[in-house]
Amino acid sequence: MDRLVVTGGHPLRGSVRINGAKNSALKLMAAALLAEGETVIDGVPRIADCLTMTHVLEHLGARVGWRGSAMAIDTTDATGYEAPYELVSQMRASIVVLGPLLARRGRARVAMPGGCNIGSRKIDLHLKGFERMGAEFSSDHGYLVAKAPALIGAVISLDFPSVGATENILMAAVAASGTTVIENAAREPEIQDLANMLVEMGAKIEGAGTTTIEIQGSDGLRPVEHRVIPDRVEAGTFAIAACATRGEVLLEGARADHLDLVLAKLVDAGATAATEDAGIRVGMDDRPRQLDFVTLPYPGFPTDLQPQMMALLATARGTSIATENVFESRFMFVDELNRMGADIRTEGHHAVIRGVERLSSAPVRALDIRAGAAMVIAALAADGTSDITDVRYVDRGYEGFEARLAALGAEVHREPSLWPAGS
Ligand code: EPU
Repeated sequence: MDRLVVTGGHPLRGSVRINGAKNSALKLMAAALLAEGETVIDGVPRIADCLTMTHVLEHLGARVGWRGSAMAIDTTDATGYEAPYELVSQMRASIVVLGPLLARRGRARVAMPGGCNIGSRKIDLHLKGFERMGAEFSSDHGYLVAKAPALIGAVISLDFPSVGATENILMAAVAASGTTVIENAAREPEIQDLANMLVEMGAKIEGAGTTTIEIQGSDGLRPVEHRVIPDRVEAGTFAIAACATRGEVLLEGARADHLDLVLAKLVDAGATAATEDAGIRVGMDDRPRQLDFVTLPYPGFPTDLQPQMMALLATARGTSIATENVFESRFMFVDELNRMGADIRTEGHHAVIRGVERLSSAPVRALDIRAGAAMVIAALAADGTSDITDVRYVDRGYEGFEARLAALGAEVHREPSLWPAGS
């Protein structure tokens, strides 16, 4: 497996264009299944997760290709209804084809996604929602077998504002008969992006971006051209990297309205953040001040920036407290950060971060997409040269990460694996 070799101590300076949002693009790609014909999505990032979703769609019979920066998905022959284990095990988000498949085919066979390095990640809320709409589920040798001869609108109250459950139910509801109301819905910008594309396709949706979404089911959604929103997590990652290296970066195309709390927290820690026509400029010229932060569903502080923020606060003046409320085990990377000289102690959902003056280089592993980004940030800020292994996690979420960091002045390069694949 490839590794990244990072020599710290170079402030990031310059501008970086922010790509389309991974967590939106994946759902927009699944939503293409709801219309027959060619859907074109501009700004899909060329990352491993979007490639996996491409394979899921191709397995279902769609034809997927690129037209410059736009992805074209032709569903004319997409008559399949199975998402196989080889693909779902690479990316849990493959489960979002369940809603479109139930809506279009009335059945689906989808491998059960297991847990991952950030928690057991159940899908019970997705299934309860579909059951309320008349779907039935059974399990067969690790596969979830779903049948819904007719999907009927229902009132679905989520126990937790799950992003995936909201999206999956939304995609089923647009093609169900009657009205569906999703209560305690997730409010992430990615949900609004999906709803916007569905409305362009002819769906009737009100309230996306609020806690109550009302959907009138309709027939015959049509394929459209849509542009994915900029990736707020990628923007936040580069912003934090700029601060951790005491540099300054313009995040071209980033949307400040999607990053309110993140920017406010960085400013609390001593950063400067200014919105310009081209994007957001973020920088920091001294050690950060300590601060406490709590992850929560949007508009709270995003769990997907928690590891990166911890890497920044590892060198803060004073002691910070981070509380993780979204995932059950998203602190596993802390041991890796401590190997780089951080002083972080975790207790359940809380982490106590005693700021040290400098981190020191060490060989470390990326444990998931965002923990991997946090390791890169820590290495960029540390003394000496760090080796980061399991870079495939970083590649799942960040397109050309090391090249874009290098263009900002970082000393980073990729070393191919010493071992052939599969050994
Ligand atoms: N949950 C349940 N039951 C369910 C669904 C969720 O208990 O049926 C729990 C989960 O176990 C978790 C919490 O609810 O503890 C939040 O899960 P949610 O469904 O909101 O997250 P998701 O849809 O699985 C998406 C992003 C994640 C991001 C979360 C939270 C995608 C592909 N993934 O996951 O992104 O952290 O929302 O914002 O959209 C990443 O990009 O690195 C990443 C992990």
